Amino acid sequence: MANTILVGAQWGDEGKGKIIDVLTQEADVVVRTQGGNNAGHTVFLGDKKYVLHLIPSGILRKDKVCVIGNGVVIDPVGLVEEIKGLQKLGVPVNTNLFISETAHIVFPYHRELDAQREIIKGKNKIGTTKRGIGPAYGDKAARTGLRMIDLINPARFEKQLALKIKENNGILKAFGAKPLSFAKVHSVYREAGDFLEKFVRNTVIYLHEATQKDKNILFEGAQGTFLDIDHGTYPFVTSSNTTAGGACTGSGIPPHRMDIVVGVMKAYTTRVGEGPLPTENNDIADLLHGMGREFGATTGRARRCGWFDSVATRHATMVNGIDELAVTNVDGLDTVDLIRVCVGYQIGSKRYDYVPNDIDTLAQCKPIYVEFQGWKEPTNKIKSWKGLPPRAKTYLKALAELTGAKLTIVSVGPAREQTIFL
Ligand code: GDP
Ligand code: IMO
Ligand code: MG
Repeated sequence: MANTILVGAQWGDEGKGKIIDVLTQEADVVVRTQGGNNAGHTVFLGDKKYVLHLIPSGILRKDKVCVIGNGVVIDPVGLVEEIKGLQKLGVPVNTNLFISETAHIVFPYHRELDAQREIIKGKNKIGTTKRGIGPAYGDKAARTGLRMIDLINPARFEKQLALKIKENNGILKAFGAKPLSFAKVHSVYREAGDFLEKFVRNTVIYLHEATQKDKNILFEGAQGTFLDIDHGTYPFVTSSNTTAGGACTGSGIPPHRMDIVVGVMKAYTTRVGEGPLPTENNDIADLLHGMGREFGATTGRARRCGWFDSVATRHATMVNGIDELAVTNVDGLDTVDLIRVCVGYQIGSKRYDYVPNDIDTLAQCKPIYVEFQGWKEPTNKIKSWKGLPPRAKTYLKALAELTGAKLTIVSVGPAREQTIFL
């Protein structure tokens, strides 16, 4: 394995956590480079379920180093909880975790502002996770944010936080929201800072040295291509670059040190939150929800579901430079008679073979479908490509061809063992 960037090729929740856990076996280091605890990456080991929000999914394997890179926004209190939660489940988190000293911090006023802005937007809301992600990245871009390096410097942190609380209480007041207590936020964050200090370091130098030692590094994307702040369905997006370039800026590893980009996508489409989803379909949503599937790993919200959209995944191949594909949740379609795949969009007589940038245009797009006969048998115990039903193979080959990348992994269940390599 070489330095591998793994990205979500759809709207998030493609099964990145599961695929990272599988690929980590061959890796030395796993890095998160963007997003925050808006992410929820699910990994099953036996019957134990782990949901990772900030810590790379590689933490579940022994002798791997996990890095939270400079591009991530960190809620320190949430991170302490996550570390303690893993430790309680018997997962060692000690010298195997490094946190970038230049990662920005999410504060309670970011969460409150996130919530208030959603209220003001009313029916036009984004449907955020309310984790304060947008306002935290906003402060970073405005150059008014605080970083981990500030949190672990008590004297400086106290001064900076006092100013930030004053400024943000003014804004919260204007929204009609409750002001925050400096003393309370300060003591809770300082406590978290004391706990996290031993993990904090210059991760750019660490990763650079790891590259020089030819270590295999896996970059774990969060969210998905269409939630990217530049390339997604703006404004119904998150606030970071979820596409492959984010792995470079969010870690300090330059583009020419990256070797391969793996795109993860479901055999159908899901989205949680608002915004256009051209292939949305209630029947497939009812089917998947009826099986107890497709509920958000972070917020528990029911995910919107639809048919596979190859216009979208082809776009994802273009902006990420996807070389290889991992298709997950193939077993979710085991009972479907006739499976549809979107191969183009249409508004009246105008056909689109790409994702239009104008959000209102995208919202009007009607999918053009091709149909595939379902295989109508369980796939969750199948261990090899050869063993898959011929109709499933036909379907998967078509997804790869339409997406424009090489199919290398097929996932037929949430567990490590339910993975087929081609
Ligand atoms: P992530 O955010 O991309 O890591 O994905 P999530 O963990 O939010 O959502 C993916 C869901 O699909 C999780 O519940 C996984 O356990 C589950 N999952 C992943 N791959 C498969 C698969 O091939 N089959 C089934 N049944 N579940 C899967
Ligand atoms: P993982 O890493 C799916 C969505 C939210 C909302 C939009 C903006 O598990 O794939 P935010 O809180 O980031 O400001 O919300 O982005 N969103 C996700 N959807 N998976 C995620 O992460 C997501 N993280 C954010 O639902 O639509
Ligand atoms: Mg998720």
